[in-house]
Order: sequence, then C-alpha cells, then structure tokens
Amino acid sequence: MGLFGGGRPRPMTHRTQVGIVGAGPSGLLLSHLLARDGIESVVVENRSREYCERRQRAGLLEQGTVSLLRDSGLGARLDVEGIEHGGIYLQYAGERYHVDFRDLAGATVTIYAQTEIVKDLIAARLADDQQIEFSVSDTALAEIDSDQPLLRYQDSNGAAHEVVCDVIAGCDGFHGISTIAAPAEQVWERSYPYSWLGVLADVAPSTDDLIYAHHPEGFALHSLRSPQVSRLYLQVDADEDIAAWSDDRIWAALQRRFAVDGWTLHEGPIREKSILPMRSYVRAPMRRGRLFLAGDAAHIVPPTGAKGLNLAVRDVARLATALTSWLRDGDRRLAEEYAEASLRRVWRATHFSWWMTSMLHTTPGDDFGLALQLAQLRYTTTSRAAATTLAENYTGVAAA
Ligand code: FAD
Ligand code: DHB
Repeated sequence: MGLFGGGRPRPMTHRTQVGIVGAGPSGLLLSHLLARDGIESVVVENRSREYCERRQRAGLLEQGTVSLLRDSGLGARLDVEGIEHGGIYLQYAGERYHVDFRDLAGATVTIYAQTEIVKDLIAARLADDQQIEFSVSDTALAEIDSDQPLLRYQDSNGAAHEVVCDVIAGCDGFHGISTIAAPAEQVWERSYPYSWLGVLADVAPSTDDLIYAHHPEGFALHSLRSPQVSRLYLQVDADEDIAAWSDDRIWAALQRRFAVDGWTLHEGPIREKSILPMRSYVRAPMRRGRLFLAGDAAHIVPPTGAKGLNLAVRDVARLATALTSWLRDGDRRLAEEYAEASLRRVWRATHFSWWMTSMLHTTPGDDFGLALQLAQLRYTTTSRAAATTLAENYTGVAAA
C-alpha cells in the first residue's frame, strides 16, 4: 500500500452513483428506492447495526408513508404487526373527545415503530447484496462543487476509503457532517421551554386510539408499540434530569394527567425511559451542487403530531425519483426542483407540529395561554371544520 499525506496509507478507492451518509430511515430508504430503479449506492453509518436497530424514536406513520413502504416491497411485517388507527382522543378539562380521521379526512394512521422500519430496511438492503458500512469513523465530504464529489471514511478496522460519487445524499440527521459541507443560506429556529420524557412499558395499552391529554400540570401522550407494549410521554422541564424520575413518580404523573371518570390507566414495568429535547428547525437550501440533504439533516420538528419520520420518508421519496430521472434518464429537472418542492411540505408539517405543541403544552403562571388553549381545544372538538384541519394534517393528506 502506498503512502501519501505525511505517511498515512492511501485510501481504497471505490465508485458509486449515490454516496449516502447515515443509515437512519432516510439513508436506508433512499438506498432501497434507488436500487429498485437500478441506481447503485453506498451507505456509511458511524454507529453499529445493533445500535441503529435499537434506537427508540418515532412510531406513528401517516397513510402515505404506509403506502410508500408497502409499494416499495417493505409491507410484509408492517401489514402483520402494524396497528391501524382511525382517529385520536383529545383530552382537556377532565373530558376525552374522539377525533375520527376516517370520517373527517378519509384516512388512517398506523403504529409501526421506527426500530422495525430500520430492521426491515437493513434486512432488505443486505438481502440485495447492497453495501452498508456500519461503525465507520471520520466521515468527510470533499469536492462537493465538482462533478465527482467524494465521500471519505474509515471502516471499523481503521482502513481508509474514498468513494467517488455522482451525487451525495446527506441523511445523517441533526448532528451529522453533511450540513457543514452545505452551509445554510437561511435557518429558521424555535426552541420550546419543555422536553418530553418518553417511556416504554411492558403493559397492554389502556386505550384503543392514542390519547393527547392537556393538563394544567403538563401534556401527556398515550401511544403504543404492540398489544403488549405501551409507549407513554410526559411533558417535563427543558433541563429535566431523568434521574429525578423514578418509575413511581412517572406512573403517578401519568395517572393524574390522564384521569377521566370511569377509565383506568394500567401500569406495568418500565423497560426504557429517556428525555427528548424539542425544537423546530428548518434550513435552506436543502442542497449544494451535488450534495442533497434529506430528513433530520435538513429539518427538525417537535414530536407532537409525529411528523419527523414521515417528513424524512417524503423527502427521500422525492429525492429518489429526482435522482433516478437524473442519473438513469439524464433529466435534471426534478433534482433542480427538489429543495424548493420539499420545503413546502416541511413548512406545512412545521406549522402543524408547532400548533399541536402550542395547544397542548402548559407553561406555569401563563393563565392567558391556558385559557387560549382551552378555547382552541373546545373549538377543535366541537367544530367539524376545525377537527378536519387536525385530521388532514395528522394523517398527512393536507395539501402542502
Ligand atoms: P436519523 O434517524 O437521525 O438518522 C441519521 C443517521 O446518520 C444516524 O443513524 C446517525 O448515527 C448517522 N450519522 C450521523 N452522523 C454521521 C456521520 N458523521 N457519519 C455517518 N453516519 C452518521 N419523530 C416522531 O415523529 N415521533 C417521535 O416520537 C420521535 N422521537 C424522537 C426521539 C429522538 C431522540 C430523536 C432524535 C428523534 C425523534 N423523532 C421522532 C424524529 C424521528 O425519529 C426522525 O425524524 C427520524 O429519525 C429522521 O430520520 P433520519 O434518517 O433523517 O435521521
Ligand atoms: C408517537 C410519537 C408522537 O410524537 C406522536 O405524536 C404520536 C405517537 C409514538 O412514538 O408512538
């Protein structure tokens, strides 16, 4: 092996059409969709396969996300294990109201955890003999403004690699390196003075549909992962320490916030708990030359309303179509339109997530805000027009 750059071994050089940074849902799905259209890609990921498959995150899929996964050959387990929901409950002032998505928007949503989507995608990629390099280090992008951008990394054995690409997709999330290579011209950001404490509990869900509960003490959400596993969230202070939340304290807070006459919240062993920060963040453009950003690398929404994963899937579906028509058919039009067209949907979801968050999370001492929230909740649960707005946005059928 030759030497260069002060005695370091020369990197092994490879060639691919699309170099993909990150094996989260965005990177893996992009690689999968491109392969179906005959476009070759290489995915590099700095975490291990086990870590990627176990990272607890989102769980709720819009109808369009389910269709896309199914249509691209990823429906086998989703169709068996996914749990379809035709609405949600909104709870406030001790009363619970059902918002019926089938009736209002002609659509449903499905619970199928991000961990399972990632497992399905990794299995599909490996079954296809496609390359995913896990546990890499020193990922770097170079020559972004040229016709042959470079993706560099060290593999898990410490060997250096350089992949010569036609295009690079930055799918490496909020803390990745792609955004450094594609500096934003504009960033829009909003932070929130609270976080979520997320809990995975070994107990059958106490509800048929998800419950979004407004409570003077703070928001609570009852979701699920399976007929045996509940997923619950509590609004906590932004700087909250997880060590301050014993299992008993968590269940007591959940009991208070979900309390309605004649209904019981069942408790069980808590398997996992963590604090999730909340922010809204949009950067533009989602592209620099031959580097395209998708998913959390380009935008973050607060989790209320479950848009993060769904937005990532929409970005990638659009990007896969655009790159296929460029790299296979020589037509750059869709690639040129990608950044601007994606942002329209991003802003619709950013507004909806901000709106749901603002309507449901309480701030101590803000009596004016509390009264406005109750007025909005009352309107949303009594006006068909207002409920339809929620239903269209939640299920993802709203026009962007
Ligand atoms: P990611 O899933 O972040 O994937 C990026 C990948 O890139 C990761 O695997 C990362 O390890 C890898 N990577 C990063 N840097 C590098 C590098 N330098 N080199 C190589 N690889 C790199 N959304 C909801 O709708 N509901 C929820 O309840 C919810 N909970 C969440 C909880 C947390 C803690 C977080 C962070 C997000 C949550 N989200 C939730 C959002 C949702 O999970 C994301 O929108 C979704 O994961 C986006 O997918 P992605 O592939 O774009 O990014
Ligand atoms: C889940 C997360 C959300 O943010 C949400 O609004 C609904 C469901 C979930 O993890 O199941």
